[in-house]
Amino acid sequence: MSSDGNPIPDGEAGFSTPVGSRRTFMGWVTSGLASLIGLGLAIPLLGYMISPALKRRVRPWVDVGNIGDIPPGEPKQLDYVTTIQDGYVENRSHKAIWAVKHPDGQIKVFSPMCTHLGCGYRWEAEEKAFKCPCHGSVFDIDGHVLAGPAPRPLDLLPSKIENGRLLLVFKEFKSGTSQVVEL
Ligand code: FES
Repeated sequence: MSSDGNPIPDGEAGFSTPVGSRRTFMGWVTSGLASLIGLGLAIPLLGYMISPALKRRVRPWVDVGNIGDIPPGEPKQLDYVTTIQDGYVENRSHKAIWAVKHPDGQIKVFSPMCTHLGCGYRWEAEEKAFKCPCHGSVFDIDGHVLAGPAPRPLDLLPSKIENGRLLLVFKEFKSGTSQVVEL
């Protein structure tokens, strides 16, 4: 009993919970739950929308021709059209690679870009070397650097032979570095 006749003793009146505070608390709980539910729905949706854009380029195996058309010991340039899936975008592009068939039947396929700064190079049959016209890099038939500023051998592309056909995966690499860095 308080001194003024109130049944609640002096000093305890301040500990009662105001009705407004309970309402505020329930409001926060409701808002928090709603936010959690919203977040739970938004994250998968966001992932679905942006995942194709984040995926690495999908590069398919491409048939570039009959292996019987590649003469042993003489590099041959092969042209083909490829489709590259880059996120949502599908790009078709024309490529020309160099294929070298060795006497044992093994075939190496080189990227058509010089490892110095990415120029196209060609095979000089008389000199038996690949030569780049831009800054004079020279490579042997196995792609090793013979001369010039090229910092590494010619880049090899993944390739395989199936039913007498040469298949490859076209890739691009960073030029100007001694390490092979795929783009
Ligand atoms: S790009 Fe081939 S030597 Fe420079």
